[in-house]
Amino acid sequence: MRARDTPVPAPSALPADRPTDVLVVGAGLAGLPVALELARRGASVRVVDPADPGSGTSRVAAGMLAPVTEAEPDDPDHLAVGRAGLDRWAAFAAGLAADSGVEVPLHAAGTLALARDRDEAEALVRFADVCGRFGLPVERLLPSAARRLEPALAPTLRGALSVPGDLAVDPRRVVAALAAALPALGVDLVTGAVERVLLGDLAGGGSRATGALLADGRELRAGAVVLATGAHPVAGLPDAARVPVRPVKGQLLVLRDPSGPGLVERVLRFGHGYLVPRDDGRYVLGATTEERGFDVATTAWALHELLRDGFELVPGLLDLEVQETLAGLRPTTPDALPVVGPAAGVDGLWWATGHHRNGVLLAPLTGLLVADGLTGASRTPADEHVASLVDPRRFAAPAAPLHPPVPEDARA
Ligand code: GLY
Repeated sequence: MRARDTPVPAPSALPADRPTDVLVVGAGLAGLPVALELARRGASVRVVDPADPGSGTSRVAAGMLAPVTEAEPDDPDHLAVGRAGLDRWAAFAAGLAADSGVEVPLHAAGTLALARDRDEAEALVRFADVCGRFGLPVERLLPSAARRLEPALAPTLRGALSVPGDLAVDPRRVVAALAAALPALGVDLVTGAVERVLLGDLAGGGSRATGALLADGRELRAGAVVLATGAHPVAGLPDAARVPVRPVKGQLLVLRDPSGPGLVERVLRFGHGYLVPRDDGRYVLGATTEERGFDVATTAWALHELLRDGFELVPGLLDLEVQETLAGLRPTTPDALPVVGPAAGVDGLWWATGHHRNGVLLAPLTGLLVADGLTGASRTPADEHVASLVDPRRFAAPAAPLHPPVPEDARA
């Protein structure tokens, strides 16, 4: 790999038969930051995806950067990973804006966790206690105080908790910035469906990833392969290298206030739902959590439940326009922690998936962890700890459940 200060090549599509240092499979909010970080360090990188960058689950994501309210705060491992993710965001957004010329504003109004009834109010008290034990800055609010902060909240509100440190970002803006930055850094973006990973034999036994074969017969050769394939299975891997990632469906709506922003300023959390304001008068109202395989249909039932719950807390939501109804697939492991790091049993093969509810939060961290690992960069003990928590090889024990056989029609 070239040293970081070596001039990067002019934007160009590399000939497909020219090997790169790294092939990233998947152009979502896991793969694109990996490509960005490697390219910044001087690696030649190619990204392959069957569709446009960020057009899968990244396009559906709400963009909460919320390690406290999106994780179980009494689980120190999730919290450590989530907070490490949040810590990387300000620098990532600034660096990405500089590389791309596309601003990536961070919405810093914080989160209000809300209770609609007595049970939810008691759950908020327990949640606040746990946060206190872990030193997380949260503040309990009377309903009247919460309504002074957000006058659109219903008078029936039973309790609230302010989580001031959470951020939010528009994931589509992040994708747009990445898609602008990557070609300028010499990254080759290729459209194509991966049929299988190509493996070569190592002299002393074992195998090494050497690239990928596309469905149209093209071979993309590389010194290392990073699988940022979301919930989708990948063919061509020995059992030991596979990871147990399944799709967990989330449905949501994008609402729009034609009169502009201002109905709600903070991210609102309630039960299993959330309302995330964008700076332009759009609001993301989500989300279901469904075990339905690769189904991405939006259903009347789900949209009804989301609107009913949202209306209970913010009655003014019903005046908004429905702009989109969407469903995405959260790539989820049995312990709900990501798989970011080297695969077991195959040299030069890396995973960058399994982010469950936190794909956007963990995007910058994912890029750094993979790039540090592939370039052999030294890590602080804290980063080493986070890397160990998300190491894919934790699932390599023979008893671990693995992906089912790859269906004919499910390609990365
Ligand atoms: N992070 C929001 C969701 O997964 O629904």
